[in-house]
Amino acid sequence: MNIHFADIQLATARHLRWMPDAVVVTDEEITVSGWALSIWDDPARQRFLINGADFDQVDRSLPSPDLLDFFGHIPNAATSRFFCRHRRTGRDELFPDGFVRLNVTGPFGEHRLSYRTAWYLADPAREPAMPSPDQIERVIGSANLPSFRLGGATIVKHYEHLLHERFDRPIASFRSILDWGCGAGRLSRYLSLLSPAVTGIDIDADNIACCRDSLPGARFLAVDLMPPTPFADCSFDLVIGLSVLTHLDEAVQDAWLEELWRITQPEALLLLSVQGLPQMALYRTPPALYLETHETGILDVGANAQLQAVIDDAEYYRNVMHSPDYIMTRWARWFDVLDIIPGTAGTQDVVLLRRRAD
Ligand SMILES: C[S@@+](CC[C@H](N)C(=O)[O-])C[C@H]1O[C@@H](n2cnc3c(N)ncnc32)[C@H](O)[C@@H]1O
Repeated sequence: MNIHFADIQLATARHLRWMPDAVVVTDEEITVSGWALSIWDDPARQRFLINGADFDQVDRSLPSPDLLDFFGHIPNAATSRFFCRHRRTGRDELFPDGFVRLNVTGPFGEHRLSYRTAWYLADPAREPAMPSPDQIERVIGSANLPSFRLGGATIVKHYEHLLHERFDRPIASFRSILDWGCGAGRLSRYLSLLSPAVTGIDIDADNIACCRDSLPGARFLAVDLMPPTPFADCSFDLVIGLSVLTHLDEAVQDAWLEELWRITQPEALLLLSVQGLPQMALYRTPPALYLETHETGILDVGANAQLQAVIDDAEYYRNVMHSPDYIMTRWARWFDVLDIIPGTAGTQDVVLLRRRAD
């Protein structure tokens, strides 16, 4: 057994635990199919929950031979698929706060931290217009609209719960929120349901125009590849940057961390995501690459062509991995690095930072 490969697989089983492949909502029912891993729980005792209650029908331990390539070290990986059905009654409210919450837990069910493994879907009836397939592909790597919706709603709800868990702060309590690298508005569309003070910025002017057209509840601005932005010092008290620093080399990273420091107020909170071990299992990242990241701190794996159609500099947008120790030390030049929480930013890890005064 390769211990590094096993660690990567265990991180996914522990922190992501499960993933939906398809969520289908009709007037009569909602069905969910996907896979669920378990290290210690007997798969027969896993619970499949919708808004905290058990699904009406659960078909579990279905064949999943394809998962052996990803999770060969995890028990029962080859029989980890499931299918669940919840029949809607006239009285049930599937989207109690605008979102349905789906989860897989052990036999004791959900608890205070269970939001971290929950997936959320917004009420389709309340969704604003969607971006085009090209616009979606530029931000999530494929033109998959269901993944775009599921990922966006889930990340925003995870952050909402995280801010509540750690700081007792609802999203609405922040005076001014920056969605840095907002892309096609995957997060801004749900963030703006929770706060009227969301600003999205991106170097992709086409996606910014799309956000402006479809999401009137937030403001959007195209920015240059390098700072400064037009914002005044201390403009924001919450910054979200989902999978932005995973695409910038170290010099560009440092320039933007400096800029984020400038435009945030003292004590502002920042949630910036990085690739962590859970995502590496899904991407089948060779452990040798992560070992190298561990040694160098930050590893630039090469140029990423996804923004070719919208930015001039073919070398700017990259694929970059960070080690936790590097983040804890390097990013501490600007911020108190409070925590790195695995698998809470979709499949990425979220780095929780607080802006220092000096
Ligand atoms: C992987 S996408 C994620 C988009 C969005 N945060 C989401 O999760 O859907 C990365 C985004 O960061 C944007 N980006 C890259 N460098 C940036 C920078 N220096 N400032 C603002 N946006 C940037 C890209 O254009 C792209 O939209």
